[in-house]
Amino acid sequence: MDNITLCGFMGSGKTTVGRLLASDMGYKFIDTDAAVESKYSMTISAIFEEYGEERFRDMESEIIKEICENRGQVISVGGGAVLREENAYTLRSCGEVIFLDVDAPTVIKRIGKGSTRPLLSGEDREEKVRSLMKERRPLYLRAATLTVDGRGCAKNVVKKITDLLKI
Ligand code: S3P
Repeated sequence: MDNITLCGFMGSGKTTVGRLLASDMGYKFIDTDAAVESKYSMTISAIFEEYGEERFRDMESEIIKEICENRGQVISVGGGAVLREENAYTLRSCGEVIFLDVDAPTVIKRIGKGSTRPLLSGEDREEKVRSLMKERRPLYLRAATLTVDGRGCAKNVVKKITDLLKI
């Protein structure tokens, strides 16, 4: 009963798909952003504002190590988590890492106008999504053991994952 990690860009459906997948499989669901927020009693936005992105990345790496001490979990990681090879390695060493691949229009539609995501705050959100995605997609592909088309409804994405994993 290894873990299953879902990685991918903000708005790729990691949390929604992850919850559904975990409930179908009888696994525990864990979201690394929620785990960081609960451990430090601060929102992700407040952490970025007060300590900056690098410190947030350290907290994220620490949480991933802690979570990976356990098994039988579906883990949804923040959109930047697997960009540190150390995190990708830790996650791969306790199960499959699935990249939910989506395109920029899907992300833009899903995240809407208001966002709690510090990296997408301010002007020109669409441009930020496009350029960050272009930069990151090769890194998600490198980090993951499997890639699934994350467009469409969560139920269908879960079906694609379970078919791929043959479960
Ligand atoms: C981030 C994604 C966010 C959160 C933080 C940074 C990123 O998580 O970890 O705002 O670098 O892509 P979600 O992908 O769950 O939105």
